[in-house]
Amino acid sequence: MYNKRPIVENIFFVGVNDRQKELFENYLPLPEGVAYNSYLIVDEKIALIDTVDIAFVEVYFAKIDAILKGRTIDYLIVNHVEPDHAGSIGRLKEKYPNMQIVGNAKTFDMLKGYFGIVTNLHEVREGDSLSLGKRTLTFYTAPMVHWPEVMVTYENQDKILFSADAFGTFGTVDGDYLDANIHTDKYWDEMRRYYACIVGKYGVPVQNALKKLSGLPVDIICSTHGPVWQKELSKVVGLYDKWSRYEAEEEGVVIAYGSMYGNTQQLTEAVVEGIVAGGIKNVVVHNVSKTDTSYILADIFKYKALIIGSPTYMMGVYPLIEKLLAAIEHRGIKNRLYSCYGSFTWAGCAVKKLCSFAQTMNWELIGNPVENKQAVLEDKYQAAFELGLAMAERIKS
Ligand code: FEO
Repeated sequence: MYNKRPIVENIFFVGVNDRQKELFENYLPLPEGVAYNSYLIVDEKIALIDTVDIAFVEVYFAKIDAILKGRTIDYLIVNHVEPDHAGSIGRLKEKYPNMQIVGNAKTFDMLKGYFGIVTNLHEVREGDSLSLGKRTLTFYTAPMVHWPEVMVTYENQDKILFSADAFGTFGTVDGDYLDANIHTDKYWDEMRRYYACIVGKYGVPVQNALKKLSGLPVDIICSTHGPVWQKELSKVVGLYDKWSRYEAEEEGVVIAYGSMYGNTQQLTEAVVEGIVAGGIKNVVVHNVSKTDTSYILADIFKYKALIIGSPTYMMGVYPLIEKLLAAIEHRGIKNRLYSCYGSFTWAGCAVKKLCSFAQTMNWELIGNPVENKQAVLEDKYQAAFELGLAMAERIKS
């Protein structure tokens, strides 16, 4: 009934797909769905690593039952308490009342607060190990990747890192969990969007975790979301390293603009013409009224330059631009080339605020920001073109 082929001998993927949820954390669109991964290790002792969202507990239990055939779970390893992974712990504890729950002091504080769980706790500290028989698990804390209690679990025999959210991605796991057996194309953009939105604020903690784990020989990464990484392991680690250093993947420009009556959009056309005329082909244009902020944020992680356009709105910037600015500031994105433009009817305000955003982020402001009053005439169109040109030249320099 279920795919019971092990990842390696006696280690099984028992995750589930969520194709129903519209919004992850109730605000991030999930057009490709999401998977909640859990892993079962069958040894002299049996360990389960993380659980799944409570909405899928029945199918989850059926998957576990199909493998265990009546054997009991000795240990539940809780790498992360966020309810997309810890949601089924209460039900699991009812099913396996003698199961020991393995976590750190912060894990247990959260388990008590969320689920009232205070018994059968096996506390581990940095570097502690737990023997299951042939296999041994070792635990390393990874605070703020993505919550403070997060830890990762290393299996010594097959060199598997159970990495919690790290290296996870949006997107269901279709037909098979192993990257080598499926098309992975759909995951790269979604992995970046997942990183940008969920983990993007925590670049320093991610770097700390990568440094801490760099000495471990790892052959397989089992994250809590998306495929099991083996063939693409070095690629996903490389991407996380780049993103957590806020280093762009490509030279190119993201333009994010809002426009009510088309004037800021006209300036957008001029800016894009300038960028392309300057020899930069990588230009991604987002109308903030049509594109969810999460996708724009992901592209800002991908590309070196960002230009924002906004009309003046209630003596400030356009509301959806304001939302984008807040999202960028929350993530503390570093080292971007930046410029801005905008329009107004009776009092200009947006461009001034957009210019001050360069100081807020400590970004380099490129070219001469353009502010247009009412209809766009030739002089402002040309100025916006020059702004795009200046950005292209700065990128190439
Ligand atoms: Fe997938 Fe931070 O939970």
